[in-house]
Amino acid sequence: MSLPQSYQAYRRTEGTAPLTIEQVTEKLPPVKSHDVLVRIHAVSLNYRDIAMLDDTYPQPCLPRGIPASDCAAEVVFVGSEVSGFKPGDRVTAIWDLTNLAGTEEQSPEALGGDVDGVLRQYAVFNEQVLVHLPDHLSWEEASCITCAGTTAWNALEFPRKSGTALLQGTGGVSMFALLLCIAADVQSIITSSSDEKLDQARSLGPHVRTINYRKVANWEEEVVRLTNGRGADVAIENVGPATVKQSLASLAQRGTLSLVGFLGGLDAEKFPDLYFPVLVKRVTMRGIVVGSKIDQQALCDFLAEKKVSLKPLIDAVFPFEKSKEAFARLKSGKHQGKIVITL
Ligand SMILES: NC(=O)c1ccc[n+]([C@@H]2O[C@H](COP(=O)([O-])OP(=O)(O)OC[C@H]3O[C@@H](n4cnc5c(N)ncnc54)[C@H](OP(=O)(O)O)[C@@H]3O)[C@@H](O)[C@H]2O)c1
Repeated sequence: MSLPQSYQAYRRTEGTAPLTIEQVTEKLPPVKSHDVLVRIHAVSLNYRDIAMLDDTYPQPCLPRGIPASDCAAEVVFVGSEVSGFKPGDRVTAIWDLTNLAGTEEQSPEALGGDVDGVLRQYAVFNEQVLVHLPDHLSWEEASCITCAGTTAWNALEFPRKSGTALLQGTGGVSMFALLLCIAADVQSIITSSSDEKLDQARSLGPHVRTINYRKVANWEEEVVRLTNGRGADVAIENVGPATVKQSLASLAQRGTLSLVGFLGGLDAEKFPDLYFPVLVKRVTMRGIVVGSKIDQQALCDFLAEKKVSLKPLIDAVFPFEKSKEAFARLKSGKHQGKIVITL
């Protein structure tokens, strides 16, 4: 079969922040024996994709790199030694190309960060970093799995069958986590600055409770009240140092605080003295860097087994040519869930 010689992609511009993205034509790299050539059908954006343009991302990123880590794609060609994939298979890639078993010790090589990402029509991956997609999901839904989904899965300590999860905000990670909790019958409390977004969240399942963090400044007290004085079993900390103290106060004895985000910045001065509160509550604090291939595979198996629809996760869909508008929507913070680009 004749393979495409070139394809369209976006790359970050260079210079002083805020950067933007620009469309480029790229030459297709060679497909080696263990490689798989994929045609990308949908890409979803994450907060980090904006943070890199604004120079607020706390990790190194490739100058003029191709943005985005999350895609849903179709296999079009496989190298001579590939055994796990064939043309026509629906796949996605893992976020950190070095994190297969979850035991590797090298630094991450993160798609769309320190290696080129997926906002492009075609890409070549080593077969070991690919995962089969659940059949029931559309390209748009499946494009949300890699970063937001695997992070939510890992941060919630899934699979879990009981307890209460506290989810901060209604962005991509939180809304994915909400859908996982609903599918597993786990109680959830989700926060937002918008009553309208909270109404929408409550409409998704019977065990969803909500708090407007703008109106209820001491939201940790409300979490404790909503859990009959017990507190949440796990909290996804999306905001960062500024709310860690409140998240910790929201937790039950032996709860887990999953450190995920930096939406409120990474000002170390705001990081509270946690030594005694963590000790006395027997809390586990976990640093989360998305998850491993095993985590992502477990998430895909769960989504397939429970036939979880990810449609409620999708805030807006933009065509490839309007990718800049998709980035602008994410930056506006008006979204609820995920912003998807179709190719
Ligand atoms: N460690 C990891 O592995 C990992 C993986 C994925 C993401 N992240 C990080 O996790 C964070 C969330 O990512 P995302 O892609 O889900 O972001 P996102 O979709 O851009 O989420 C934005 C939403 O978060 C909420 N928010 C913003 N500031 C808030 C605050 N002070 N308190 C509570 N909620 C607030 C707002 O929700 P409302 O409009 O409802 O108020 C906002 O719309 C980011 O910092 C991201 O970089 C980390």
